[in-house]
Amino acid sequence: MIIKTAQFLKSSPNVESCPHNVLPEYAFIGRSNVGKSSLINMLTGYSKLAKTSSTPGKTQIINHFLINEDWFIVDLPGYGYAKTSKTKRAEFGKMIEDYVIQRETMICLFVLVDSRHEPMKIDLEFFRWLAENEIPFTIVFTKMDKLNVAERNTNIEVYKNKMLEEWEYLPEIFLTSSSTKEGRDDILNYIEEINKSITSE
Ligand code: GTP
Ligand code: MG
Repeated sequence: MIIKTAQFLKSSPNVESCPHNVLPEYAFIGRSNVGKSSLINMLTGYSKLAKTSSTPGKTQIINHFLINEDWFIVDLPGYGYAKTSKTKRAEFGKMIEDYVIQRETMICLFVLVDSRHEPMKIDLEFFRWLAENEIPFTIVFTKMDKLNVAERNTNIEVYKNKMLEEWEYLPEIFLTSSSTKEGRDDILNYIEEINKSITSE
């Protein structure tokens, strides 16, 4: 898919105030600092579209970006950021939960995990919760550029095997790096195929 235009449309503090446009949307979520905003910039080719930061907790609201005037990319706040106050964490949790459950135009949730780490409890619990609520999702490994060839294979295998302990089959998996643009075409083609299937329905 060619990205012709990508524009920031709106920041929303809760799902009720999200745009009312009926367009397919694809949301990016994951632990704080995992690389959500960087991935969105890499996918769109607009390096300053979503605000990135080396300090976790940068994205604190729901951000809608209109792509090719046809569909949305959504940047969500990170979950599990330990340094945020308990009240703030609960608010984020609720915001994310409400968005994921209530946003009917959200077609697929891309859950980002850092490729350098072993499967984390918080992510595994999140996948479980998504499945319970029948939310379509994919797993996106980020920061692949930080791994050498041996680590790449081992880390992904370890992750898949851990998932297979409780899942009958695995969701779609993407290997990405915002630095090298790895995975860009895979994700954009995936979205394009879904968009096509929606319009032909
Ligand atoms: P919050 O909004 O705080 O939840 O973070 P986020 O998930 O949006 O992460 P963000 O994109 O702001 O990136 C966090 C840090 O990781 C920044 O310092 C990025 O430069 C770095 N980073 C993100 N993606 C990559 C990547 O693919 N490779 C490398 N090497 N660094 C990355
Ligand atoms: Mg962010």
